[in-house]
Amino acid sequence: MCGIVGYIGDKDAREVLVEGLKRLEYRGYDSAGVALLANNRIDVLKTPGKVTKLEEMVSGVQQAKIGIGHTRWATHGEPTTVNAHPHMDCTGNIAIIHNGIIENHSALKTKLTSLGHTFRSQTDTEALVHLIEEFYSRTNNLEMAVRFALKDVDGTFGLVVMAASEPDILVAARRGSPLVIGLGESENLIASDASALIRHTRNVIYLHDNEIAVITRNDVALKNLDDETIEREAEHLTFDLEQIEKGGFDHFMLKEINEQPETIRNAFRGRLIEETGISNMGGLHEVDDKITNAKRFVILACGTSWHAALVGKYILEQYAKIPVEVDYASEFRYRNPVLMEGDVVWAISQSGETLDTLAALREARKSGVPVYGIVNVVGSTIARETDAGVYIHAGPEIGVASTKAFTSQLAVLNLINLLVARKRKTISEEQGREIVAEMRKLPGKIQQILDNTGVIESIAEEFKDSRNFLYLGRGVNFPVALEGALKLKEISYIHAEGYPAAEMKHGPIALIDDNMPAVFIALGDSTYDKILSNIQEVRARKGNVIVIANEPDSRLKELARHIIQIPKTIDILSPILSVIPLQLLSYYIAVKRGCNVDQPRNLAKSVTVE
Ligand code: M6R
Repeated sequence: MCGIVGYIGDKDAREVLVEGLKRLEYRGYDSAGVALLANNRIDVLKTPGKVTKLEEMVSGVQQAKIGIGHTRWATHGEPTTVNAHPHMDCTGNIAIIHNGIIENHSALKTKLTSLGHTFRSQTDTEALVHLIEEFYSRTNNLEMAVRFALKDVDGTFGLVVMAASEPDILVAARRGSPLVIGLGESENLIASDASALIRHTRNVIYLHDNEIAVITRNDVALKNLDDETIEREAEHLTFDLEQIEKGGFDHFMLKEINEQPETIRNAFRGRLIEETGISNMGGLHEVDDKITNAKRFVILACGTSWHAALVGKYILEQYAKIPVEVDYASEFRYRNPVLMEGDVVWAISQSGETLDTLAALREARKSGVPVYGIVNVVGSTIARETDAGVYIHAGPEIGVASTKAFTSQLAVLNLINLLVARKRKTISEEQGREIVAEMRKLPGKIQQILDNTGVIESIAEEFKDSRNFLYLGRGVNFPVALEGALKLKEISYIHAEGYPAAEMKHGPIALIDDNMPAVFIALGDSTYDKILSNIQEVRARKGNVIVIANEPDSRLKELARHIIQIPKTIDILSPILSVIPLQLLSYYIAVKRGCNVDQPRNLAKSVTVE
């Protein structure tokens, strides 16, 4: 996730900014930059890679008492020097750093280009600085220019702007991306999270949505976008650095589980067209026809991403009526796979660096078929080596066990399904609109699950000492059972297996006794009655049944020892909800067993060996 830090005061801004950016490194980033204002001139230094590299560059420029710095996690455009923040206007007067996404950046760019502005980067942010420049040329007032510009902007932002012609102020604004102002003695700071400023002060003011702050060395003035003054008391921060980095959560994994309403919103942002019930993904525009006319999809992935691919198979075959084959990337390359004309290969990877997946996609390319990516890390090797693709925009995932990336992968697979199904006319416009409407409701429904974790915690307490677990689901929720079992294995070291619920009677049922917890996903869909029979089979052997359900009826209530209720949605979207209690169950069990949740033994976040 991008990081922001801004400074005005008596200290050497170079040092304050670099130190602040280092504090933000834990959020993940791929390039960094600063803008320093002294002697009515702004020096901009930026680089792909680490803040230490930036630190070396910064030592060679003039000292400054005001400046802004940024760590960028690429969303629009590769992680290159030119795409790194800060961005400058045409005249070199105004510099900006920005977190968030400017959704109407293409329209703004067209308009601003026609007004004579020259764009240098592929970022959405650059449109913003030229827009501010445009208003500055009419007002000669930075605060007003920012305020007017923001009225023309669709999207989210946490931003800080400074101008060489107004060397005593920083102007900041927020909509959707957090900003906190640090109040010091003859100095003030601003950052995207408090970790970047608590070395200097613990007295802070949080900026709210649609507010602007004008920050000078001795003063902070808050206003709304209508220029009305806002009074807000400062708060005193008492928590430590580690707590701040984890956003107040005990572990990164829990933080990332709780980010899912936002990450799902980000995966859909700007990609859903309500009116025509279809999706729109910039990264696939040029290959639309190839995808729509494909005879078969082959999806390659590992681990959690492989589970997402399996969900994709259910979705795409059911709605887009396209045959889908899902392969473990590690198996694919060694089994002499047959690829034919009309095949489209997809590689799914959170990190974009998994060697097995990379090797498999290179193998696939040898057959001359198109290879597309579904990746989280922008500019990663898989993103670069695929012909086209879609970023899932989940932000950096620090916990080794993948959680938010999985649900974002499912969100993107649903977007692809919607695109292909509508183009192939296997679903109607009306059905497309219904799917879009349900997609829009997902963040709120995820939040409902996250707001009711009490029952999950108590189940974790009861079963934390179990030696084995079974996870069972049917249809589109069978891969979710696999994912639930993987999560538990990875972080609590309890042996767990996932199966299609009906498969149990073909073998695994022999394992069931009163020590065996069995977690069923039994949603109110067409498989519900069948799953109830499977639950009965487990109960008859005294197994302990935990059920993820929508609206449990009396039959289910009688059979289940515990029911975790989740909101209802349409079947193809249901894995995005049903996996969340399973992530939480694994998390709480692992914590209660005293395991290292964020860095489980023997596992690495990015597996770059075969
Ligand atoms: O980065 P990728 O999505 O390619 O990673 C694939 C697997 O290594 C990964 O999903 C792994 O299974 C995680 N530890 C799951 O939590």
